Amino acid sequence: MRKIAIANQKGGCGKTTTAINLSACLAERGKRVLLIDLDPQAHATLGLKGDPEELEKNMYDVLSDSSSPTTLEEVTLHILSNLDLAPSSVILSALEQELSGRPGRELRLYNAIQSLSTSYDYLIVDCPPSIGLLTFNALRACDEVIVPIETSIFSLHGVEKLLETTRVLSDRADHRTKVKALATIYDRRTKLAKEILKRIREHFEGSVFNSVIHTNIRLREAALKRVPISKLDKTAAGYKDYRQLTEEVIKGEAWTERMEGKPIGPQVLEKGVFFSYRIPDAEDVQLVGDFNNWKVGKDAQLDRDENGGWGRFLPLNKGRYEYRLVVNGKWITDPHNPQIVSNPFGGENSVIVVP
Ligand SMILES: Nc1ncnc2c1ncn2[C@@H]1O[C@H](COP(=O)(O)OP(=O)(O)O)[C@@H](O)[C@H]1O
Ligand SMILES: [Mg+2]
Repeated sequence: MRKIAIANQKGGCGKTTTAINLSACLAERGKRVLLIDLDPQAHATLGLKGDPEELEKNMYDVLSDSSSPTTLEEVTLHILSNLDLAPSSVILSALEQELSGRPGRELRLYNAIQSLSTSYDYLIVDCPPSIGLLTFNALRACDEVIVPIETSIFSLHGVEKLLETTRVLSDRADHRTKVKALATIYDRRTKLAKEILKRIREHFEGSVFNSVIHTNIRLREAALKRVPISKLDKTAAGYKDYRQLTEEVIKGEAWTERMEGKPIGPQVLEKGVFFSYRIPDAEDVQLVGDFNNWKVGKDAQLDRDENGGWGRFLPLNKGRYEYRLVVNGKWITDPHNPQIVSNPFGGENSVIVVP
């Protein structure tokens, strides 16, 4: 199951719109999706179901210290084929104070997900516009974060501030989360929007979606009608944008999907390290690092099997090695190795130690 948080402390940047429409498009593509509304403003709940205060149970019951513990399943509502919603309510805003000082309070959502018995392909978490307990719960529970960035009125220096925020987010998340930016509310007619998009692409390097969500009034109308855009107007630009984003997200499955029973990532063995990955879409995967003087080329290639698996045993002596993967010519950090250090180029290297 892929677990994706939609987070940005700024309000109005398209978090909820993305959470709803990405979830609905994934469901339409046959993926089983649970959308968790973690914002006390409950806009996702409102946008898909209706008045949150009329619902009997919500995420507060799951996360709080109530005398009768509530499971995620008990609050989950069926919305559309393949799409379920765990609703929010304004009472969720009381949680931060209520749990203040409690050990493990940031792991409440993580724990609730562990005891989930329904099987979903995707879990999408819509976060509030703040970096507090609720967002931390989302980050601890998820492996990936999508950060929507509004390109219409966002100031340029704000991009840097946001970068810092995402760094804080992934540091606080403790485990390594994959953070990816998404340009939203994009108006191609304005110079500023173009400039901001360029800056986002520079700053986030490879960690930004190619898909861009344009300004589209139909998205707003869909929210008011309490349906995803797919149910309102399939000819709308907003639908096409979210469909494209969905395809990009689905393509990323290769990265998170662990082969049944087969280890993925670097495995330290007796006389070296076995590196193995599952990247069915790739044409070429190379492993470069200290051990080969960072030299890209035929000698650095991994072997491919017929199932899209890539692997190679590298004999290595005792020591500490830094490395990166080069997939179709693009340098990336090993997504299956949490050991990462900053490199002098502003990016990251993965680290492996042979004891
Ligand atoms: N691409 C878009 N085009 C037009 N309006 C949008 C778009 N994305 C979001 N909106 C509208 O902007 C407002 C804020 O979006 P929302 O998704 O609720 O942001 P957030 O959850 O980050 O606060 C909503 O009224 C929403 O309908
Ligand atoms: Mg919102």
